[in-house]
Amino acid sequence: METKPTFYITTPIYYTSANLHIGHTYSTVAADAIARFKRLTGYDVYFLTGTDEHGQKVESKARDAGVAPKEYVDKLVAGIRELWKLMDISHDGFIRTTDAIHEEFVKKVYERLLETGDLYKGTYEAQYCTPCEAFWTETQAKDGLCPDCGRPVQPAREESYFLAISKYQDWLIDYIEEHPQFIQPTTRTNEMLSFLRSGLSDLCVSRTSFTWGVPLPFDPRHVAYVWIDALTNYLSALGAWTDDDALYQKYWPANVHLVGKEIVRFHTIYWPIILKMLGLPQPLQVFGHGWLLMGKEKIGNSRGNVVDPVKLAARYGTDALRYFLLREIPFGSDGNFTNQALIIRINADLANDLGNLVSRTAAMIEKYFEGTIPAPADIDGEETTLSEHLLHLPGEVEAHMNALSLNLALAAIFRVIGECNKYIDITMPWALAKDESKRGKLASVMYHLAEAVRFAAVLLAPFMPATPGKIARQMGFTSDMLTWDSLAHICGETAGLRVSRGAALFPRIDVEKELAELGMME
Ligand code: MSP
Repeated sequence: METKPTFYITTPIYYTSANLHIGHTYSTVAADAIARFKRLTGYDVYFLTGTDEHGQKVESKARDAGVAPKEYVDKLVAGIRELWKLMDISHDGFIRTTDAIHEEFVKKVYERLLETGDLYKGTYEAQYCTPCEAFWTETQAKDGLCPDCGRPVQPAREESYFLAISKYQDWLIDYIEEHPQFIQPTTRTNEMLSFLRSGLSDLCVSRTSFTWGVPLPFDPRHVAYVWIDALTNYLSALGAWTDDDALYQKYWPANVHLVGKEIVRFHTIYWPIILKMLGLPQPLQVFGHGWLLMGKEKIGNSRGNVVDPVKLAARYGTDALRYFLLREIPFGSDGNFTNQALIIRINADLANDLGNLVSRTAAMIEKYFEGTIPAPADIDGEETTLSEHLLHLPGEVEAHMNALSLNLALAAIFRVIGECNKYIDITMPWALAKDESKRGKLASVMYHLAEAVRFAAVLLAPFMPATPGKIARQMGFTSDMLTWDSLAHICGETAGLRVSRGAALFPRIDVEKELAELGMME
């Protein structure tokens, strides 16, 4: 049997200090669509997500809540798992930094780094941002504020272990220049190169100021710095350096670490240097996506402008919410979240374009062919053009997905859906139906529409996983007609299937009324 190529994709692991919001959901939904697309196109995928549970912030939040840190994070993790279930996330692995397998791995990493001489003891003096768990120099933390989140930083001084990253600076500059695909989009490559050229200081990678972390095996007063703890999840989750390392052997190095743009630095500077120190292969790509904004501000807990994905999914359905997130924002750039934009997208693209195409097609086949998809008969230029466009579409979508241009992949699919609706308007099946001599043409129109709906169902599956099943039930498609390979041809198989029109896929929303109700909910 032919072995499939592997594809390992990861999300960032989420902090367990508060419930996740729409911004976190965006990261995970995007990774899920990519993972699903790769599975569809024949890859053996491992999709990893998880939680980043250690650190001072969790320790102090748990203290405020009067519970032990583990109890505190367990509750949040349960909520995160529920959220991913609700959002139809198809992860293969879920790693918690409190998992024994992970903690053991972190300890081994520190031991190994001590052995290689890259880890050494010194004194640390800097400015620390607790919410971001990040250290800054005086110059970086201008006016005593964290350059990432804008909140006040605190001076910190402690005996610590350091990672000698400065000596890898030139190696990393060369590596990034020689691997232009490593950091994407390209603008982020340039940001990271200029950060590197401004000079790296050795990184402080242990803490004594709190205890909720992985104790260093050779000096247990110190716990591991949360970012080293966190980054190594991508390896620990695969069982690296254990007796059971089959996943590691199979999937490492990762194909894509998908991350938000503010954590590209950790993934493209610290992470590659750590891997280099450990003598391990580098991930092939780190892709930094943009932020969901409200007005001009990043949506986030600290700004109190969070949007709850659970509420939106309950109101509009998971697929509609996923579609909006992936279609609205050019992947890699920032984009605004508004209730209005969400509702307009659902109405225009899902209720009108997609929903109408499916319901009109099913209704017409019921009306003109007693519910059986006819075999094509008389084929004109219109059918030939539509067929050409359909057959071209999978390749176009794949090219966009390979570049992680998720919004462009969706735009291409919806361009063809729009074309199908126009095809109905132009061919006017209701007029053809009145003329017995046009029966052959009418059959061709219905057949080509059914095929177009099938193409849409297959191609939309990675983005909207529940929708293809609903379409298939109305159109009578069987699972073998919904594979990637089945899109290589427009062929007779759909002819003869029984169609039964069902409920609207995406009911139209009354914009004014909905906005008023959402306003009242806030
Ligand atoms: N724990 C670290 C990641 C460690 S990975 C080894 C972390 N966690 S986080 O919970 O703060 O963020 C996780 C992801 O959510 C990041 O990719 C971040 O960019 C994303 N988002 C959080 N708010 C966001 C928006 N408003 N918009 C888009 N993504 C955002 O960082």
